[in-house]
Amino acid sequence: MTIPVIIDCDPGHDDVFALWLAAGHPALDVVAVTTVGGNVPLEFTTRNARIALSVAGVTDVPVAAGAAGPLVRPLQTAEWIHGENGLGGPELPEPTVPLDPRTATELIADALTASAEPVAVIATGPITNIAILLRDRPELAGCIREIVWMGGSTERGNATPYAEFNALVDPEALDLVVRSGVRFTMVGLNVTHLALVTPAVREQIAAIGTATAGFGAELFDFFCRTNDELFGMPDGPLHDPVAVAVLADPCCVEVRRARLDVELLGTETAGATSVDLDDMLAREPNAWVAVGLDVERFWAGVAASVARLA
Ligand code: RIB
Ligand code: CA
Repeated sequence: MTIPVIIDCDPGHDDVFALWLAAGHPALDVVAVTTVGGNVPLEFTTRNARIALSVAGVTDVPVAAGAAGPLVRPLQTAEWIHGENGLGGPELPEPTVPLDPRTATELIADALTASAEPVAVIATGPITNIAILLRDRPELAGCIREIVWMGGSTERGNATPYAEFNALVDPEALDLVVRSGVRFTMVGLNVTHLALVTPAVREQIAAIGTATAGFGAELFDFFCRTNDELFGMPDGPLHDPVAVAVLADPCCVEVRRARLDVELLGTETAGATSVDLDDMLAREPNAWVAVGLDVERFWAGVAASVARLA
């Protein structure tokens, strides 16, 4: 039985592999893709999502643009990692996948109401679109199976010392989604930093030999180079597909129940995700938090999905 999923993303190199892992995985049925301003401005993340699906030959999934920026804060972007157009490295083709005329909220609402069963939402950028949906269409919360989000960290951040990028960009949206009561799983840096694009992984993907794999290999070249230059991590952590793996192959990602609170007020700590793994505060647990990854199984799943695409 496949799980219907909506992917909300901000491509970004790792978002592309999240889209490919989902689109190529037999356990998932991608029913919609929505985009948000994040790694780069919305016009680029939207074009990049269409390009990612076009390259992979995924032409039957609607793509709609969502929020250009966070609920209340100014947008912060990450060209320093992903390049000016958000997909530094390969020459980008014109997308053949069209832009759906609906807003992200409209497309998500239509996808939720059209589905015979609850739909899972996988978010791999600032979670603004999902917050807007839950704020403006609260009656649809019951149509969402669960939300799995790549972001946050049980340890330190990557955009500030204490905040991961997706959480930093829109902490108010994250707080609203966590408080919504919809089952929520956080896939933070503490686990995604295990999903390293090593030379062996690059060979594994390149050996697939398809157009999609070749495009992915060029994305890896750029992504690993910028991660090396910025963080001294030549094997760049491919964050976003780990969130997809939570649903596609639950045995691959270890999760545990915990209390998650989002810092909104801190001058130095805004966007920090306070994960109480040891129940220090005796607060009611409100989220599932990823704490482990079967790295070999994860990459085997990514490679198998990419091999099923064009
Ligand atoms: O911190 C990593 C996250 O921020 C990833 O989703 C990456 O694509 C960026 O959006
Ligand atoms: Ca992302």
